[in-house]
Amino acid sequence: MIKRTPLFTPLLILALLASWLAGAAAADLDWTLVDPQFDGATFVRDSAQCRGCHEDAMAAYERTVHGRQQAFGHRANATIDCESCHGPRSRHIEDPEATRAFSPAQYDAACMQCHQGGGRIHWRGSMHSAADVSCVSCHAVMEKRSAKALLSRPTESAVCADCHRDVAAKMHRPSRHPIAEGLLDCSSCHNVHGAPGAGMLVAGNANETCYGCHEDKRGPFVWEHPPVREDCLSCHEPHGSNNRYLLSTTSSTLCVSCHQYGGHINQYRYNRVSTPYGNGCANCHVTLHGSNHPSGAKFNR
Ligand code: HEC
Ligand code: HEC
Ligand code: HEC
Ligand code: HEC
Ligand code: HEC
Ligand code: HEC
Ligand code: HEC
Ligand code: HEC
Ligand code: HEC
Ligand code: HEC
Repeated sequence: MIKRTPLFTPLLILALLASWLAGAAAADLDWTLVDPQFDGATFVRDSAQCRGCHEDAMAAYERTVHGRQQAFGHRANATIDCESCHGPRSRHIEDPEATRAFSPAQYDAACMQCHQGGGRIHWRGSMHSAADVSCVSCHAVMEKRSAKALLSRPTESAVCADCHRDVAAKMHRPSRHPIAEGLLDCSSCHNVHGAPGAGMLVAGNANETCYGCHEDKRGPFVWEHPPVREDCLSCHEPHGSNNRYLLSTTSSTLCVSCHQYGGHINQYRYNRVSTPYGNGCANCHVTLHGSNHPSGAKFNR
């Protein structure tokens, strides 16, 4: 029997938590359900046997995160091995030509044995999974092509650009988030493995996602500007814009789309960007995101 020290239970909980957080605690998988070709096959659990025929593939694989987890030689089969992803291979060794390559969906099942925790708890039912995008659409696991996360391309945005050309194009506009500079990435705002809200955003909705970095816009303010509280995207494009500050149109056109009534708003010198008030309305309405000044009701201070 295990002798329980006072630390036993907390340590066990910590160990379980750590493996759950790492998202890499293997679960049992019935391989014959994944593919009937495994009927009657058993695990070889000896990568030396694979090497004889797959020397090149293995040489590249050994430099990946998985390859480094998989101790070769005398420490073979420590945590992960070839058959963790490729299934029991005894019959493949007997008759290599009879093998059928996996579909991307079959690889998903293999990956999820170890990775269904962490960021992927919303994977099933996510827009990517529903559109038949799979783990191997974005990840290349047999060779190291990127500095992080075994991506299929050197950078994350290049992975996405394969399919989201329109978004990638916006990232080249004059005003854009500094992704090319490496200050943030698509995954700073999106959980590509799935998220509950619209647009697979990391924080449920657009505003909460933006507040994550633009905390000064969160408020609450004494004087609130309703569209700011409702949706940052009523004025901003998240990916890129030809207007400064990622605005969806020039700022005065933007304001006039909601504020059309009389007074100074319709006077030429107030609403033209090229006037002495070059910033348009924001030249005087400097706190349009909200003001805490006692007399800031009109967002002039
Ligand atoms: C006797 C030589 C030989 C041995 C040993 C061998 N393979 Fe293969 N393997 C092949 C050949 C030949 C192909 C190509 C078959 C084809 O393209 O139709 C192949 C294809 C594959 C493929 C791609 C197709 C598929 O089934 O997904 C994988 C993965 C694979 N082998 C994994 C392994 C693993 C893992 C081992 C060790 C447990 C192993 N092989 C041992 C000869 C071998
Ligand atoms: C983490 C999962 C995983 C592990 C571990 C893994 N593979 Fe693969 N392997 C894949 C996937 C996914 C593919 C499909 C092609 C691709 O994405 O590169 C593949 C493709 C292959 C292929 C066919 C294509 C090629 O590159 O020639 C062979 C052969 C192969 N693997 C052998 C092995 C061997 C041998 C090992 C152990 C040393 C191994 N794999 C370990 C996931 C894995
Ligand atoms: C047998 C368990 C197991 C399987 C199956 C498995 N992985 Fe992993 N994976 C690991 C472990 C262990 C690590 C390294 C520890 C960690 O970061 O969680 C890892 C790390 C990763 C990473 C992070 C790499 C990095 O640089 O941070 C990615 C991405 C990944 N795996 C993708 C996949 C994909 C895609 C598949 C299916 C083709 C797959 N894994 C199958 C166990 C597994
Ligand atoms: C649409 C592209 C895409 C798909 C599909 C995808 N990933 Fe990822 N994955 C990424 C990107 C980008 C990162 C790095 C940014 C991050 O950590 O979110 C990443 C990171 C990871 C990591 C390391 C960080 C972490 O969350 O632990 C693992 C493990 C991983 N992916 C596994 C998977 C598995 C398993 C699948 C399939 C169920 C999958 N991915 C599907 C793009 C994708
Ligand atoms: C293999 C193609 C492919 C790759 C690679 C890919 N996606 Fe997607 N993505 C899709 C498809 C298909 C959809 C489903 C909706 C659609 O058709 O736009 C989608 C949907 C999305 C959505 C939700 C769109 C909406 O209308 O709410 C976001 C956000 C997204 N992807 C971000 C990313 C990011 C970030 C990456 C890179 C890490 C990426 N995707 C890589 C194909 C891909
Ligand atoms: C600053 C945060 C942020 C960054 C960085 C970001 N996005 Fe988005 N993205 C959003 C928001 C917000 C939406 C709108 C979501 C909604 O409400 O539907 C969105 C929507 C999308 C959509 C849905 C279709 C569309 O055009 O609106 C796709 C696809 C997408 N993003 C892909 C990407 C890709 C690919 C990258 C990296 C090149 C990226 N995003 C970087 C915030 C961001
Ligand atoms: C991961 C952090 C992060 C998130 C999340 C984020 N931003 Fe940003 N944002 C930045 C950084 C970094 C800059 C560049 C700051 C600089 O150049 O001083 C920036 C700049 C901006 C700018 C000014 C652009 C310019 O041309 O000067 C606007 C507007 C903006 N973000 C709006 C948003 C909106 C709207 C959201 C939510 C959809 C959002 N941001 C989410 C990090 C973030
Ligand atoms: C009513 C339209 C409108 C809404 C809604 C709005 N903004 Fe802005 N935002 C602007 C305008 C106009 C500017 C340019 C200000 C200037 O010219 O000085 C700007 C500038 C910015 C900047 C860059 C300058 C600065 O103040 O840091 C950031 C960051 C920003 N907005 C973030 C956000 C976030 C986050 C939200 C949602 C909480 C949001 N905005 C909602 C109109 C809006
Ligand atoms: C999406 C619609 C919308 C946009 C775009 C918009 N506003 Fe507003 N604004 C409102 C609403 C709603 C109110 C609160 C109702 C009211 O008092 O008229 C408001 C209130 C104000 C007020 C205080 C009005 C008062 O009578 O107390 C000022 C000043 C203002 N906005 C300036 C601007 C400026 C400057 C811009 C452009 C950067 C702008 N607004 C863009 C919807 C908008
Ligand atoms: C030269 C500075 C200046 C410029 C430029 C300016 N405003 Fe104002 N605006 C003010 C001042 C000052 C007030 C407050 C008047 C008061 O307290 O009665 C105000 C008040 C407002 C109000 C509250 C209702 C009202 O008429 O009193 C709205 C809405 C408004 N401005 C919108 C705009 C819009 C939209 C633009 C751009 C087309 C704009 N402003 C450009 C200085 C300016």
